[in-house]
Amino acid sequence: MVTPIKNPEIRYKHLFINNEFVNSSSGKTFPVINPATGKKIADVQEGDKTDVDKAVNAAKKAFEPGSVWRNTDASDRGRLLNKLADLIERDRLYLASLESLDNGKPFNDSYNVDMVLVYKCLRYYAGWTDKIGGKTIPMDGNYFCYTKHEPVGVCGQIIPWNFPLLMFAWKLGPAIACGNVVILKPAEQTPLTAIYTASLIKEAGFPPGVINIVPGYGPTAGAAISEHYEIDKVAFTGSTEVGQIVMQAAARTNLKRVTLELGGKSPNVVFADADLDVAADACHNGLFFNMGQCCCAASRTYVQEDVYDVFTRKLVEKAKTRVVGDPFDSRSMSGPQVDQEQFDKIMALIDSGVQQGAKLECGGKRHGNVGYFIQPTVFSGVTEDMRIGREEIFGPVQQIIKFRTLDEVIQRANKTNYGLAAAICTKDIDKVMTYSSQVKAGTVWVNSFNVFGAQCPFGGFKMSGIGRELGEYGLQQYSEVKTVIIKTPTKV
Ligand code: NAI
Ligand code: MG
Repeated sequence: MVTPIKNPEIRYKHLFINNEFVNSSSGKTFPVINPATGKKIADVQEGDKTDVDKAVNAAKKAFEPGSVWRNTDASDRGRLLNKLADLIERDRLYLASLESLDNGKPFNDSYNVDMVLVYKCLRYYAGWTDKIGGKTIPMDGNYFCYTKHEPVGVCGQIIPWNFPLLMFAWKLGPAIACGNVVILKPAEQTPLTAIYTASLIKEAGFPPGVINIVPGYGPTAGAAISEHYEIDKVAFTGSTEVGQIVMQAAARTNLKRVTLELGGKSPNVVFADADLDVAADACHNGLFFNMGQCCCAASRTYVQEDVYDVFTRKLVEKAKTRVVGDPFDSRSMSGPQVDQEQFDKIMALIDSGVQQGAKLECGGKRHGNVGYFIQPTVFSGVTEDMRIGREEIFGPVQQIIKFRTLDEVIQRANKTNYGLAAAICTKDIDKVMTYSSQVKAGTVWVNSFNVFGAQCPFGGFKMSGIGRELGEYGLQQYSEVKTVIIKTPTKV
C-alpha cells in the first residue's frame, strides 16, 4: 500500500501564462480550503478578465503561422503529450496527495483512479496526434477535392472541482492532439493540481503560450473566457445553469464553438432477475463514489417491485457500513463534500426529501463536527415528483424508486430534462437491448456503473450537454474541416 504525503508542500499558487508563473494583474488572491477541516490551505492568485486577455495574447502568438507550435510535427505533439503523462506518473504520489488535500476525495481514489485515468487519457490522445487526417473526395467535374482537419485555434476550457486533474486531462488531451492552443480555468475550489501540472507542462517542453492556466472565479475569469472575441472554442463542464450562460455568451459574442458536459439524474434500473449482489455494487458505487459528486451519479435507483424490499435492505446495509472519514486514512471510502455551499445544498435537499414524504432509511445528518462530511444517506419510497427524485443532488444521497414493468420504467427513466447516463441490471438480454435502445442517455451501463475508458466517448443527450469527450469522437470538437478544391486539366 502506498503512503500518502499528508501535508504536501504547495509549490505553485500562480497563474501560468506564456510558460511563466505570474501574479494576477489585480494583485488579488483567493483562499483555497481543505474541505476535511474547513481551514485554508493556500492563497492563490486570482485571475480575471485582464489576465484572460494576457493569456489569449500569449496563446494567439503561439498559434501564429510559422510559430514553433505550428511548425511542430504532429508526431512531436504526441511526444510532448506522452512526456507530460510520464511526468504526471512520476509525480503521481505528490499529485494524488495534493488532490485529496484540495478536493477531499480519499487518497486511495486519487492515487488509484484519478491519476491513472489522467495519464492514460493523455497517452491515448498522444497516440492520435499523427492519425488525424481528412479524405479525398470524388467530386463531379475536373477537380481534385480533399479535406483537412485543422485546429480550431484558441480553446477556452472551464472545468469543475469534482475530478480536478482528470477534467484537465479530458480537456487538454484532445485539444493538444489536434494542435490547438489552450487557456484553461480550473474551478476556484480546487486549482492546486492544475497549477502544479503547469510546471510539468514547462518541463515537458511545450512551447510558451500553448497551454495557459488562469485560476479564478466563474463570473469573472470564466465569463471572460466564454465572452472573449478571440477565443475560438469553449469547452465547459459544470452545472446546467452555467452551461446555458456559457452558450449564451458564445452566441452573443463571436459564436465560438461550444461543447458542454453538464448535469444528470441518471437512472439505474434493477430487475428482479438480476444478480442482486452485482446490482447492489453497481447501485451503491454508482451513487456514493466520489461522495456522490459525479455528473453521471446513479441518483435514481429503480427497483422492480418483487425484489424491492430485499434489495432496499441490501443498499441500506452497504450505505451504513460505508466508512466516511479523513481522506488520508486508507480505510476511508468517502471524504467530505467539496465546500460549504455544496454541503448546504445537499442538506437542504435531504430535508426536502423528509418533508415530501420519502422514507429516510439511514444517514441524513452531518458526519463529525469539522469539515463538510455528510453521512451516506438512503431514501426509499421516492417518487419523481419529489425534489430528490427530480433534481441533481451531487451528494451522498440515494433515491430508491419502485417500478413494475420494462415499458413503465423506460418512460419514467426518460421523464427528465437530463440524459447523461443510464444503467440496467438484469440477466435478460432482451431487456438489455430494449432498454439500451430506448433510454435517452449518452452512456448506458449494463450490470455495472461508472466504468470509464479514454477510448470510450462520454457526454449527454438533452440538457446534459452538447458534444462528446474522450475517444475518437472527442477529437471532432477540436478541429475544423477544411475543404480544398483544385482545378485539374483532366478528370483525376
Ligand atoms: P458551476 O457550474 O458554477 O462551476 C463549474 C465551473 O464553471 C467552475 O470552474 C466555475 O468557476 C465556472 N463558472 C461558474 N460561473 C461561471 C460563469 N458565469 N461563466 C463561466 N464560468 C463559470 O458549478 P458549482 O457552482 O461548482 O456547482 C453547482 C452544481 O453544479 C453542483 O451542485 C452540481 O449539481 C453541478 N456540477 C456538475 C458538475 C459536472 O461534472 N457536470 C461539476 C460541478 C458541479
Ligand atoms: Mg456555481
